[in-house]
Amino acid sequence: MIGARTEQIAFMRNTSDGLSTVANGLTWSPGDNLVTFRKEFPSNIYPWLRLRNALGVEVRMCEERDGRIDLEELIGLIDSKTRVVAISQVQYASGFRADLERIGQAARSHDAFLVVDVIQAMGVMPTSVEPELIDVAAAAADKWLLTPEGVGLLYLSDRARERLEPTLVGWISVPEPEDYGDFEQGWNRGALAWETGTGPSALIHGLEASLRLLVETGVGKIANHLELLTDHLCERLQGRNYQIVSSRHPSEKSRSFVSATRVGLAQWPFTLTSRPEISSPLLVVIGSELRPTSTTPLRTSTSSSRHFLEKHGIYRVIIVRCPDNMYG
Ligand SMILES: Cc1ncc(COP(=O)(O)O)c(C=O)c1O
Repeated sequence: MIGARTEQIAFMRNTSDGLSTVANGLTWSPGDNLVTFRKEFPSNIYPWLRLRNALGVEVRMCEERDGRIDLEELIGLIDSKTRVVAISQVQYASGFRADLERIGQAARSHDAFLVVDVIQAMGVMPTSVEPELIDVAAAAADKWLLTPEGVGLLYLSDRARERLEPTLVGWISVPEPEDYGDFEQGWNRGALAWETGTGPSALIHGLEASLRLLVETGVGKIANHLELLTDHLCERLQGRNYQIVSSRHPSEKSRSFVSATRVGLAQWPFTLTSRPEISSPLLVVIGSELRPTSTTPLRTSTSSSRHFLEKHGIYRVIIVRCPDNMYG
């Protein structure tokens, strides 16, 4: 789905574990910095702030400009002391889609890693790790990969694996895990070095089934379908007292969701999300903060949805129906 080879993928619990793996596995020197975006989801902030607090690593945050990231501004923060550029492929609060190849070129020109939180894109946006110069990609599988919580994926490019030290290891981290007596094997040269011990096999089987479904359906097809839905929503909102926060520029819009605020009612923002396998309803979530707190694909009418809504202070869900001819 992302063009990775088997030895480049490790199972993790979630996105945070994957990103912390990188933060903790690099050897940082005085004066080093990393570049990120101020409105990243906290999973992509706390691992870096821990480095700032523990080791004095400088954390440079690019500000948001009108729901967008100004790539010139972000790239301008990268210099010869930058070790990591950490960014989401699709921003959770604005839907902004980053031009990874462009950021990756800037990162590589300073020998920094491009580290990408792909949770809001994997499964619904085509991603290709090598052409997009991604060194590390991390995602939990419980959003667009449609798997129960507790399992995620970490992609480590060959150069990332060469330079990162596995810091959380166990019996599976070596080349011959079942050779229980040989403690001097060194670490597995593949991403298994970053898996520790026995994993959540039931979840992994579920993830496999989801991946098969998504690959058979075609991520490009899903992306096109979601683009129709989100474009349609934006058209419907024209002239209706809503301001679209998400960039609608073709190279910046995510296809999976749109974020908007009600003009004059700053307390009523909403985000649109839709699960690929539910073709007719679009879910519009109205939250109590200025921006959506999350864009988890909601399972309607289940206790987990109710829990999600309560937890995130979301108090209203509107189902918007689109014309039938959109679902052929
Ligand atoms: C961009 C982004 N990253 C990460 C997460 C979740 O992090 P984790 O997988 O560590 O629970 C979310 C959840 O909404 C998110 O939107």
